[in-house]
Amino acid sequence: MAEDIGVSLLGLGVVGSGIAEQLIAKEHTYQQQVGSKLVLNHVLVKDKDKNREIEIPQQLFVDSFDEIINDDKTSIVIEVIGGEEPAKSFIVAALNNKKHVVTANKELIAKHGPELISLAKKNNVRLLFEASVAGGTPIIAPVLRDFSANNITSIKAILNGTTNYILSRMSTENADYFEVLKDAQKLGYAESDPTNDVEGIDAAYKLAILSSLSYKSFVKDSDVYCEGITSISAKDFQIAKELGYEIKLIAFSELKDNQISARVHPTLISKNEMLANVHGVLNSVQIETDLIGNVLFHGAGAGSFPTASAVLADVIDISRNISSGFVYLDHMNIDLNSSIGDISNLSTKYYIRVSANDEPGVLSRISTILADHQISIASFIQKSSHEGIAELVIMTHEALERSVQEALNQIKNLSAVKAIENSIRVMN
Ligand code: NDP
Ligand code: HSE
Repeated sequence: MAEDIGVSLLGLGVVGSGIAEQLIAKEHTYQQQVGSKLVLNHVLVKDKDKNREIEIPQQLFVDSFDEIINDDKTSIVIEVIGGEEPAKSFIVAALNNKKHVVTANKELIAKHGPELISLAKKNNVRLLFEASVAGGTPIIAPVLRDFSANNITSIKAILNGTTNYILSRMSTENADYFEVLKDAQKLGYAESDPTNDVEGIDAAYKLAILSSLSYKSFVKDSDVYCEGITSISAKDFQIAKELGYEIKLIAFSELKDNQISARVHPTLISKNEMLANVHGVLNSVQIETDLIGNVLFHGAGAGSFPTASAVLADVIDISRNISSGFVYLDHMNIDLNSSIGDISNLSTKYYIRVSANDEPGVLSRISTILADHQISIASFIQKSSHEGIAELVIMTHEALERSVQEALNQIKNLSAVKAIENSIRVMN
């Protein structure tokens, strides 16, 4: 048997607790798989005195990162604190001190991935981040290894467990948005600030990471057009269902004519589509390649043990390298000069819900604005009329995003129109 491999954990929250529990409970299994024993050396937390459900020997707790960086016995640092700082400084210091790093931090990898990957290479150590996208569902390793012979052409995915859990329960139980969000927080799915989940930012981080690795070009989080789910109401679900659709937060990117486009937004998606039938905290990623066509990955996208599974897979992979004496350096060559398309050039169908005075001529004024912008109407339904206010639902054929936005601005300013209640893109 080779020497023990020292592992230190930064963070003991939802994910960190799952990792620590499994490292301790499956010590023998992991030893068999690696050929060396994985030993938890230190656990860095913010508050050493906090009451914790997990039982960890008190002497393992530290509240200063220096104790870890100066510990020669720690070969692998696992970062599950989250956010940019101090996580980034800890990772940089660990890599510069020749320690391998495993992280679940999508924000950090989306924003600083190429720089950190280069730093790892420079120091002849590995930086792995499988858990940063789709939680427990393997996706980064397959993209880096199993699709090596392919050109990846598009990614269509549900990448945020919290919002999919919220949307699923709003759709099936007519549940209240804020109540379901609280449940998602209790279950450990949501980020410490759930704004990142519900505003689509977390999904945008994940899409940026997956797109950068898939197209070998740096897609920054700010390159991803992003809209969240906070404007979706029970009424939208009801109408979408009547029309044969579900509403999902879809992450989509593609590489076409040497240009990448990437977007995250609520989408009306036909009930017959696979992604419309992904419920709860599950994530689903459909990757399209030139050699295989479509390949689907589907599984838990968040939560303590599913995420621990992805983190520990990376830890075991690196430990096998250490144990065998051969450290494999990952091929993650990412071009920093990428060409990213703008959402205004997108061509898509739209669902538009408008409340307006129930009086002669309103439909014709709205239709004229749409026609003036080359937007063709697929269907026009008057849903109801209450106290002189009618609810109108317009489904368009494919139209240019910039034209739709201009038309919506003009419709909003019609005197008979009370509000554009919602406008949601429809998946082609
Ligand atoms: P939590 O908020 O549950 O845990 C964060 C942990 O980090 C806590 O133990 C906290 O210490 C510790 N911590 C915070 N700030 C510091 C600091 N300055 N110094 C030392 N320790 C600190 O987060 P999660 O476990 O949910 O998430 C961790 C990471 O995993 C994030 O990057 C997240 O995006 C990612 N992730 C989470 C998933 C999930 O399902 N939750 C799924 C996939 C990825 P203390 O306990 O003392 O407060
Ligand atoms: N908050 C994230 C989600 C955790 O709900 O998907 C997993 O990355």
